[in-house]
Amino acid sequence: MLSAKMEKALNEQINKELFSSYLYRSMSAYYESVNLPGFAAYFNVQADEEHAHALKIYSHVHTRGGRVTLEAIEKPQAEWNGALDGLKAAYAHEQFITNSIHSLVDLALELYTRYQT
Ligand SMILES: [Fe+2]
Repeated sequence: MLSAKMEKALNEQINKELFSSYLYRSMSAYYESVNLPGFAAYFNVQADEEHAHALKIYSHVHTRGGRVTLEAIEKPQAEWNGALDGLKAAYAHEQFITNSIHSLVDLALELYTRYQT
């Protein structure tokens, strides 16, 4: 059974993953709008991958007897100042989401340690 704290954190991560998917889909639309179809295709793949991450966590919460609660997804940015600006934004977002995963790992280890003692 998931602790309430972990369930909340995983639900927040689901939202972040869904936002990531939405952001990358928005980037794909941006690159389509500036006639860079290869970049657009790349970000469509990334958007699908982020959605898959959300679904994996969604399934994990249910497998562990938890409750998924979906919240509103933030509106993503729609315009960037050129191709490089979009790529820099994607890199910054990847750093953010990776730190979020690291925080989840830290929380899991903290809770595991607490239950072992
Ligand atoms: Fe992800």
